[in-house]
Amino acid sequence: MNYHFEPSTNAANLHTDCVVAGIYKHGKLSSAAAQLDTASQGAITTHLEFGDFSGEKGRTSMLYSLPGVTSKRVLLVGMGEKDKLTQESLAQITQAAVNLLKSSKANNAISFLTDEISSEFMQAAVRQSITAVADSLYTFDSFKSKRDETPRTQLEGWTVAHTIAGDFSTAVSQGTAIAEGMCVSRDLANSPGNVCTPTYLAEVAQELANSSNKVDINILEEGDMEALGMGSFLSVSKGSEQDGKMIILQYHGGKAGEAPFVLVGKGITFDTGGISLKPGNAMDEMKFDMTGAASVIGTLTACVAMQLPMNVIAIIAAAENMPGGKASKPGDIVTSMSGKTIEILNTDAEGRLVLCDALTYAERFNPAAVVDIATLTGACITALGHHTSGLLSNNNSLAEEVLTAGKQASDEAWRLPMGEKYQDQLKSNFADMANIGGPPAGTITAACFLSRFTENYPWAHLDIAGTAWKGGAAKGSTGRPVPLLCQLLINRAGA
Ligand code: BES
Ligand code: MN
Ligand code: ZN
Repeated sequence: MNYHFEPSTNAANLHTDCVVAGIYKHGKLSSAAAQLDTASQGAITTHLEFGDFSGEKGRTSMLYSLPGVTSKRVLLVGMGEKDKLTQESLAQITQAAVNLLKSSKANNAISFLTDEISSEFMQAAVRQSITAVADSLYTFDSFKSKRDETPRTQLEGWTVAHTIAGDFSTAVSQGTAIAEGMCVSRDLANSPGNVCTPTYLAEVAQELANSSNKVDINILEEGDMEALGMGSFLSVSKGSEQDGKMIILQYHGGKAGEAPFVLVGKGITFDTGGISLKPGNAMDEMKFDMTGAASVIGTLTACVAMQLPMNVIAIIAAAENMPGGKASKPGDIVTSMSGKTIEILNTDAEGRLVLCDALTYAERFNPAAVVDIATLTGACITALGHHTSGLLSNNNSLAEEVLTAGKQASDEAWRLPMGEKYQDQLKSNFADMANIGGPPAGTITAACFLSRFTENYPWAHLDIAGTAWKGGAAKGSTGRPVPLLCQLLINRAGA
């Protein structure tokens, strides 16, 4: 799919397979629709007078061969009430348009749907309209044997156009990069656990490094981690036949010596719970337990595509959590790279065990800030459901940055508190800390555990347990929080 930007143009004079224009509630014409109406001597108004289509949000109506209009197709899209138009509803509206177009014979389209969003949100809206198009076109059929029977869309080009002046080509190219990053992340997360192993994640990361001279890679094998004293990480990976890997990707987009922004991803390629075995119901979804890692790889892919002028490091803690003769047992005590000891009371709280050593390792890069991304707790789904990621942080200004980026990208997070009282829940009679804090406030105590390894830099933690994937009939990765992370980095880089 190709994405472009076309400034200050007249909707009636475009050489394209389809012009996409908005109609507000009660048949009120957008500027682009008004241009089409004028050129066709009222054909749009006449169409609306039939009353079949009145601009209800997300409704669509395709018109053909309007007199005076160059494009043979005009797709009218219901925008709802003009003053209620938000970025999020714009994404839904865009998807309604693409859903209709992808089954048509149109090879390309020019869309005016972002034309009238208020100017302060326009950059973000344009970016998001691109990711919305990509989302509608996303398919994952690499594991279907009869791939060719599924009808393929002919839609190959999408151009964002405005009747007004203003250059949004950067927003289009950033949106394209974010869409690509989301696609990389979704493909990885959707891949089954027998394919997407820690070794596979390392191979994908290696390919990313090979594709750009700005990206270096270093992969720590279990022997290397042993030498570094990463006893907490290894207590998880040793239960599996699959070798654990700590994958470090460095993107050098900024000046040499400039403090990097570090992203740490939980990469549990399958979480059985270990000896504290999970119940069987929907256990297949624990293949998505590496979405933190996938989002970090996707975000770095986008950084390369955007040529973001900053240094970004991704650390991926990749392991499989299995029961077995070598697996950790409840009550086992391990020593983390930081020297702190951990009593493993529940082997299903494995994410924090692999992350804590990655977070300690991050110190050697003297990071400007560290954000970890993890499908860490079921409790986060109970607290925030599937719409909002959990955010916990030891630094108010970094937390604000993350929240703002989430709002701008419509990939929202909500901050939860941390504090001494919650820290107390992690007390162990036998080690420096336990790896669980009991049933109350499970998302907070998980973050409290991580906070003991992040004292030396500004740190934020995103719990994406509820937002990383959808279950049920639409089961699959969402690509979140790649939009939030990319927006955060775009803001940091001032790009
Ligand atoms: N990967 C899970 C968290 C999870 C569960 C994410 C369901 C999405 C859906 C994590 O490793 C885990 O098992 N957490 C435990 C922690 C508990 C043992 C303290 C949980 O949430 O039950
Ligand atoms: Mn678990
Ligand atoms: Zn897990």
